[in-house]
Amino acid sequence: MNKLIPKLVVEGLSHHYPDEYTGESVHALEDINLELYEGELVSVVGPSGCGKSTLLNILAGLLPYNIGVASVDGEVITGPGPDRGVVFQEHAILPWRTVARNIGHGLEIRKIPEKERNKTVQDFINLVGLTGFEDKYPHELSGGMKQRCQVARTLCADPVVMLMDEPFAAVDAQTRITLQEELNRIAMATKKTILFITHAVDEAAFLGDRCLVFSARPGRLKEIVKIDIPREKRVWADMNTDAVFIAARDKILASVREEVSVAVEE
Ligand SMILES: Nc1ncnc2c1ncn2[C@@H]1O[C@H](COP(=O)(O)OP(=O)(O)O)[C@@H](O)[C@H]1O
Ligand SMILES: [Mg+2]
Repeated sequence: MNKLIPKLVVEGLSHHYPDEYTGESVHALEDINLELYEGELVSVVGPSGCGKSTLLNILAGLLPYNIGVASVDGEVITGPGPDRGVVFQEHAILPWRTVARNIGHGLEIRKIPEKERNKTVQDFINLVGLTGFEDKYPHELSGGMKQRCQVARTLCADPVVMLMDEPFAAVDAQTRITLQEELNRIAMATKKTILFITHAVDEAAFLGDRCLVFSARPGRLKEIVKIDIPREKRVWADMNTDAVFIAARDKILASVREEVSVAVEE
């Protein structure tokens, strides 16, 4: 990780949703300032409704904002762009395309020659552990496999930053653990800069180089917890006895609990 190169910068970002009926607005975010450095995985945790998805949608360029500035590589965010790849909880893969053709969709659009495209697609299929499922359709995949497919499709487009909004919240507990370990491995292999939003404290501590704790609505950046565990050591079997993990998790948990009680993952 190169601490000197900020890839994503947010300065003084606030957001109010207008309410057309009552005239009262919903104050979702208040004065968010943050930087994501090259190769860093930053988790964001906070109680439900604190503005996490609002932040992600603004960064993805899907939600217009007018207070503060957000930029990637110095370019102010004004809409969606290829510099940002987004992975949501719901599967955004196309049902009529196979795994391989979903993952390579962005490369097809960019008219990358077939041979080169196929090689890149296969590399990402292997990276996310979908080898052998290239020709399956989404309805033939489990929830975990669909999320692997989404991650591969996003990485294949080679964004500067990957934005993830509770991507593993809808899969069963065992699959979630596997996907968390896989994302850790992918972060190591690709050195991607990743913003990972979650409401689960364990997940935030397991994945983040740093964890940003948000307050209850309006979401403010309440605390930053550094988690100094090398990626190669991040396996769940060792976390229960890892003093650094336990200390970080407990710190995050206490901070979030002050806001509201949240579900802690077993
Ligand atoms: N389109 C919208 N219009 C009005 N209020 C919204 C809209 N989207 C979200 N909100 C409100 O903004 C707050 C933050 O929502 P959200 O960003 O989805 O929170 P989180 O992802 O942390 O659970 C909530 O109170 C939510 O009800
Ligand atoms: Mg949300």
